[in-house]
Amino acid sequence: MATFPTKRLRRLRYNPLIRDMVRETTLSRNDFIYPLFVVPGSKVKKEVGSMPGVFQMSIDIVVEECKEVADLGIPAVILFGIPEHKDELGSEAYDPNGIIQRALRAIKKEVKNLLVITDVCLCEYTSHGHCGILDGENILNDKTIDLLAKEALTHVQAGADMVAPSDMMDGRVAAIRKTLDDYGYETIPIMSYAVKYASGYYGPFREAAESAPAFGDRRSHQMDVANALEALREAETDIEEGADIIMVKPAGAYLDIIRRVKDKFQMPTAAYQVSGEYSLIKAGGKLGWIDEERVMMESLTAIKRAGADMILTYFAKDVVKLLDKNKG
Ligand code: PBG
Ligand code: ZN
Repeated sequence: MATFPTKRLRRLRYNPLIRDMVRETTLSRNDFIYPLFVVPGSKVKKEVGSMPGVFQMSIDIVVEECKEVADLGIPAVILFGIPEHKDELGSEAYDPNGIIQRALRAIKKEVKNLLVITDVCLCEYTSHGHCGILDGENILNDKTIDLLAKEALTHVQAGADMVAPSDMMDGRVAAIRKTLDDYGYETIPIMSYAVKYASGYYGPFREAAESAPAFGDRRSHQMDVANALEALREAETDIEEGADIIMVKPAGAYLDIIRRVKDKFQMPTAAYQVSGEYSLIKAGGKLGWIDEERVMMESLTAIKRAGADMILTYFAKDVVKLLDKNKG
């Protein structure tokens, strides 16, 4: 006699209601942080060639965009600045009247119900496109973190609700924490790009942020793609230095790292679905080779399933609109 299985996992898959009931991971609008690129000028809204649907925007347009993001119920944006002038020391990064500082004041004046996070790094501001101060071809760690602390402070003074150092210098979280505390900003959280790999997936971002290094690459500070134990050491160090939220970046190719960091430290964990991840899905969709909407949802669900509490993604507006639509 044939033996039939008594255990039938398909029983819970036969219709959408039951599938909804047993679903383990759900995306919510609260999960998302939307990246924005701020450029000088006014009325500027220029699409990034390699990132369809992503724009460089002047401050006036960014303010409008932030209103739309807040109206969609997305809790946070992260700002990247493209300065008027770049120089060796990345001066506009920590200029109280720099592009991000002005954008912050404008957004904070006009937009309610939105957390404004700022990316803290020098590569958008330096003429050589590196993330710190150079001595020949070497990035000087300790000089750089002094400037990063200054950059973070000017962001907070201009209204930033949270700062996110993305440079991968050693000791920068401690330096930023100390400076913020010294100036009375002990309540402002730090979301550190704790585990940031030297990744090929950042390609389109460097067009969006005009921050490609003039020579060499970022392997002297960003992590080797092959390393996982080192990722745990990076996260641990940033937590010891006072990071409130730790980030893994990129996301899709590093789901194992997200899971390990989450399990080990049980900290609020962010993952950055970076420019290249976005562009690949967009390109595949455009070519008709994949279903863009479906792969977008799948990629984000996977990142959340891996343990991310929040996701930085260029899809934030699209996904929230889709969640609204599907609710009927
Ligand atoms: C700046 C920074 C980068 C990204 C976020 N902050 C670029 C880099 O390290 O080269 C990448 C984000 C993306 O690709 O979407 N240090
Ligand atoms: Zn950088």
